[in-house]
Amino acid sequence: MTKPLNIGMIGYGFMGKAHSNAYRKVSHFFPELEYRPVLKAVCARNEEKARAFADTWGYESVETDWRKLVERDDIDAIDICTPNNMHHDIAIAAAKAGKMILCEKPLAMNAAEGKEMVDAVEKAGVANTVWYNYRRIPAVTLAKQLIEEGRLGRIFHFRAQFLQDWTISADLPQGGAALWRLDVNAAGSGVTGDLLAHCIDTAIWLNGKITSVASLTETFIKERKHTLTGKVEKVGIDDACTFMCRFENGSLGNFESTRYARGHKAKYFFEINGEHASIAWDLHDLHRLQYFDHRDDSIVRGWRSIHVSDGDQPYMKHWWVPGLAIGYEHSFVHQVADFLAGLSSGKPTGPTFRDALETQCVCDAVLKAAQSGQWEKVGCGCC
Ligand SMILES: NC(=O)c1ccc[n+]([C@@H]2O[C@H](COP(=O)([O-])OP(=O)(O)OC[C@H]3O[C@@H](n4cnc5c(N)ncnc54)[C@H](O)[C@@H]3O)[C@@H](O)[C@H]2O)c1
Repeated sequence: MTKPLNIGMIGYGFMGKAHSNAYRKVSHFFPELEYRPVLKAVCARNEEKARAFADTWGYESVETDWRKLVERDDIDAIDICTPNNMHHDIAIAAAKAGKMILCEKPLAMNAAEGKEMVDAVEKAGVANTVWYNYRRIPAVTLAKQLIEEGRLGRIFHFRAQFLQDWTISADLPQGGAALWRLDVNAAGSGVTGDLLAHCIDTAIWLNGKITSVASLTETFIKERKHTLTGKVEKVGIDDACTFMCRFENGSLGNFESTRYARGHKAKYFFEINGEHASIAWDLHDLHRLQYFDHRDDSIVRGWRSIHVSDGDQPYMKHWWVPGLAIGYEHSFVHQVADFLAGLSSGKPTGPTFRDALETQCVCDAVLKAAQSGQWEKVGCGCC
């Protein structure tokens, strides 16, 4: 018999859907898990819309005040799928109420907030994770395995890009539903916290600590009408950010993100160059890992494109037969599966709040370096 784990989810937008889908699928594809998520309640301010969402996805109940949800005795875990400026208060209240927490990324608006969240979950001793889901795309997990097996040897370079093009129009307003990412008071930062945070999490996971950064940011459209006030207001987010960094292992990093790269919708790409081999991955072709091994016989040496669909490859034995690919949504199913497995084993599932704080510290250092024009050290002494 599986044990129920009652989920209370806050926010029903893009991530609300991705997570609900994951909770519904996980027990079917990972039947060995001891725990089974139960969609107990969804919370959003508009009751009618929340109820429609609950009906579609099978939530048992609806709340319109997240504080009430957090206090409910029948909820085991709080899932935070709201804009970034709400993560801190919800997580602290949930930890105080003794709830497990699955929080969307970035952990917080900045490292100071993030540190308080880490302290709260660690003091309460509640299981916690942050949805840096790209770690759990099988091709990316395979990259981790290849690095850990030593196939790349010493790593020299890590480069990553996350490119989009959806904010180029000057007529696009900032703030409110769907456009909160352009409002610095809701998002904390622009592409740095929204997109580069993913690249930084993957980079730290694959290649270790980032120790110092130098960066450039730009806000191309300086003023936009605010949806909530109706007034034209200053834009406070970074539209584009590029940064260089040093890793603790001696390798160099190069990162770029923008929402002004015409033609790119969600081009998340990374490449790692080692002494013996290189690997590369692209979200637009997410089930493939590119691999070059200099130790191959020279007459057949070259980049190979590995179609990650075999049962021997990460997570794939849970899905179809070799040759059949899975997609974006499955990374969320894997994150839930690993979180539930962690509850049984007692081994925390990364990225924990503490892991995500390290990413937050890099984001803070990147934004600080853009202001100062200097190299900045990473870390608030907490990670
Ligand atoms: N892991 C990923 O790849 C990924 C992708 C997209 C977004 N995110 C993160 O997920 C979070 C949500 O992003 P999204 O794209 O789903 O946003 P969204 O705008 O689609 O949804 C946000 C939801 O929060 C709700 N909300 C806002 N204020 C609320 C309140 N006071 N009480 C209850 N609900 C409230 C809104 O009604 C909406 O349902 C953000 O932190 C974002 O950075 C992560």
